Amino acid sequence: MEAFDQEQNYFGLDLGNSSIKVAQLRELQGRPTLVTYGDMDIQENIIMSDSLIDQDKVAGYLKQLVADANISSKNVIAALPSTSSFTAIIKTPRLNQKELGESIGYQADKYIPMAIDQVKLDWAIIEDNPQEEELTVLLVAAPNNIATKYLNIIQKAGLELLALEVNALALARSLTLASQTESNCMIVDIGTTNCDIAIFKGQVPQIVRSVGIGSKAIRRVISQNLGLDETQADQFMKKFGMQEDKIEGQVFKTVKPVVDHIVDEINKSINYFIERNPKLKIEKIILTGGTSALPGLPAYLANSAKLTVEIGNPWVNITYPADMQQTLASISLNYATSLGLALRNFIR
Ligand SMILES: Nc1ncnc2c1ncn2[C@@H]1O[C@H](COP(=O)(O)OP(=O)(O)OP(=O)(O)O)[C@@H](O)[C@H]1O
Ligand SMILES: [Mg+2]
Repeated sequence: MEAFDQEQNYFGLDLGNSSIKVAQLRELQGRPTLVTYGDMDIQENIIMSDSLIDQDKVAGYLKQLVADANISSKNVIAALPSTSSFTAIIKTPRLNQKELGESIGYQADKYIPMAIDQVKLDWAIIEDNPQEEELTVLLVAAPNNIATKYLNIIQKAGLELLALEVNALALARSLTLASQTESNCMIVDIGTTNCDIAIFKGQVPQIVRSVGIGSKAIRRVISQNLGLDETQADQFMKKFGMQEDKIEGQVFKTVKPVVDHIVDEINKSINYFIERNPKLKIEKIILTGGTSALPGLPAYLANSAKLTVEIGNPWVNITYPADMQQTLASISLNYATSLGLALRNFIR
């Protein structure tokens, strides 16, 4: 193997609420290049279960997927579900790594609304301006039981966990251009059960929030209000979505209050950011996650938040064979997290 053609000795793993996704990259002529990817549908929300039997099942799926996708490494970087992690951006005096670790350990309870002995703490320096006395640090806390569950699943699948990372950091790597450090944007990831909202200055997260809403909640409200079974509700959701001019706006009116929870959280986050950064402007919202395919959603969000909304392209920083363009574009919404994790060695 040549020095410039190295497969990364790890892959990105996104254990989602409806499917598992994996992605592996290599370096080719200095560019992150696709080696392989794959996904597998799993029983909805099994990933949230604490039962050991369910963890065994997930481990079995994962093992199968890694084999099917021809992943060539046993090492995993996995995304933490943002609902079960807590993040805070804090300022600390300029300290060396060791002092910083200690200092953060002492003051973490000021920022983390969980018992400190029941969480696994991690942190990363996200802004280090030599002219300033302070460092900006991203503090991440995951409850011990979640971290342990992930570790269990991964070990049972015969793999090794190298790191757990917050979803938002992975998304920024895959969906924004590393060169655009000056621009501020919001990334909204709407999946099956969760919606993650984060604001970035360049690729540095400023606000990370999560709302427990996704296609599951939308499907449920359609099913209840329009008296449809799950399958029909799913069809109505995917066909009519947030389009006011379809079937007299019946689906639109039903879904709107659910989506408005997301809109509220988006607007709150924007206001919070602007209050703290009055001179800055958020350029756009980048949408990702399978539920972003809800018809009419981008336009509805753009109108509600008064911002440009675009669908994220997680392949933007990655080289892949030209004849795969269409196939890869069709799965763009589902791969932002796993590709962002796989990009970790390329984009810090
Ligand atoms: N056209 C559509 N309209 C609405 N939802 C859709 C559409 N197409 C797919 N979805 C939903 O996208 C979801 C899958 O997206 P994704 O892979 O981002 O979820 P996930 O990562 O498994 O979930 P989570 O992030 O909550 O753990 C499915 O639940 C599916 O119902
Ligand atoms: Mg997801």
